[in-house]
Amino acid sequence: MMSASLATVSYIGATILFILSLGGLSSPASSRRGNLYGMIGMTIAVLATVFGPKVTLAGLPWIMVAMLVGGSVGLIAARMVKMTQMPELVALMHSLVGLAACLVGFANYIDPLAAANLTSAEKAIHEIEIYIGILIGAVTFSGSLIAFGKLSAKIGGKPLLLPGRHFMNLLALLVVIYFGWVFLHAATVSAGMMALTVMTVIALLFGIHMVMAIGGADMPVVVSMLNSYSGWAAAATGFMLNNDLLIVTGALVGSSGAILSYIMCRAMNRNFISVIAGGFGTGGGKAPAASGDAQPAGEVISIIAAEAAEMLREAKNVVIVPGYGMAVAQAQHTVFELTQLLRGHGVNVRFGIHPVAGRMPGHMNVLLAEAKVPYDIVMEMDEINADFPDTDVAIVIGANDIVNPAAQEDPASPIAGMPVLEVWKAKTSIMMKRSMATGYAGVDNPLFYKENNRMLFGDAKKVLEDVIKALH
Ligand code: TAP
Repeated sequence: MMSASLATVSYIGATILFILSLGGLSSPASSRRGNLYGMIGMTIAVLATVFGPKVTLAGLPWIMVAMLVGGSVGLIAARMVKMTQMPELVALMHSLVGLAACLVGFANYIDPLAAANLTSAEKAIHEIEIYIGILIGAVTFSGSLIAFGKLSAKIGGKPLLLPGRHFMNLLALLVVIYFGWVFLHAATVSAGMMALTVMTVIALLFGIHMVMAIGGADMPVVVSMLNSYSGWAAAATGFMLNNDLLIVTGALVGSSGAILSYIMCRAMNRNFISVIAGGFGTGGGKAPAASGDAQPAGEVISIIAAEAAEMLREAKNVVIVPGYGMAVAQAQHTVFELTQLLRGHGVNVRFGIHPVAGRMPGHMNVLLAEAKVPYDIVMEMDEINADFPDTDVAIVIGANDIVNPAAQEDPASPIAGMPVLEVWKAKTSIMMKRSMATGYAGVDNPLFYKENNRMLFGDAKKVLEDVIKALH
């Protein structure tokens, strides 16, 4: 077993590695290194905890069995899950962090040893930690389960707007504060358990209500916000278990998740404060229509692969805008093949990446990096938007909401105000998708009907292969 000082040194080492890991993840070029730091840090952290001074020899077999079961489930899930299902898996994992915080909280409260030898002030602080830990954990748990349901389309994307919902939230907050007071003044453990249980039920309902009230178009913000909550839930668990590393790691995840939420809010033109308060994504706009509910707004001009190839052959400047459909079709390698072919003919090809393209932050960057697309031709939305008027052909590959002009042209649209890639300003835009269906937000896209837009129907990978064949 490890001495206390060696465990502390290991914890400090792991903390530094986690910070380096976050730093590495801030750019695609260094993200592999960032991941590696994170993996080494986590291995050190787990070893230092399992073999550290707080674990007795008798407890070791239990931990081993738990790690074996948990590790196997994680390994199988990670192997089985498709890249496009990643956000659902992440949401499910956030829910487990929340559940763990709740269970640790309850166990800590009923454990007679946990509060033994504490002064009354220390005991009060210990109980506040438990109360807040379970509160954050329960909100994270139920909120993440609903987010999982929405992301996997098991629950509809329409926001559930209960009458007087802000009043209900306020009431819930007051009840939680009241029972917090009851909990701190409970004379017996069973009286305290009653208060804890009532608060937990309210927190679970609040988590469900908060995420149910959010419209499909705002889900990216929810994903990153629950990421942040799961970090704070882990930090709260760290306080309950007196584990410094868990506190620091939880705070790192919590604050980086909060920063990511802020970036997402800016990318979607949503107000950060109203996001934190919950119940957002519906202000002003009408509720999104059900998927596939597109209203016809004119004629669409459909082309075949050979015609698209002809347009590309004549182009000097091409911008490719990938979206969720590229991920579904796993077309990233074919996209790169086309890029190389065009670049070989002297065409200036660049990629325009929207911050919420796909279903998780950085989704498109990961796929393009996997296909080995050079980073210097992958542009952020702000870098490329001004260049569309000088672009001959903008190819939209399985993207929809992120190129929807309604965001700028229709103030009543659910995505009104969201910055979008202005592909319609290119001389010609080609939209590659399988049908006229709407995207994630369930909003009709007027781009389909623009005079300079062409629809190229079919599975993105198959269609791109046909375009490449025609170009050859
Ligand atoms: P979407 O608006 O969802 O559009 C994707 C399009 O791809 C669909 O219209 C679909 O049309 C097409 N498609 C699907 N499979 C295809 C295939 N095999 N081949 C060709 N096309 C295919 O995607 P987007 O433009 O990337 O926008 C992202 C949306 O997801 C936003 O609304 C965003 O708010 C939301 N969201 C994002 C995140 C994050 S963090 N990025 C998280 C949750 C939600 P067809 O069915 O007609 O083919």
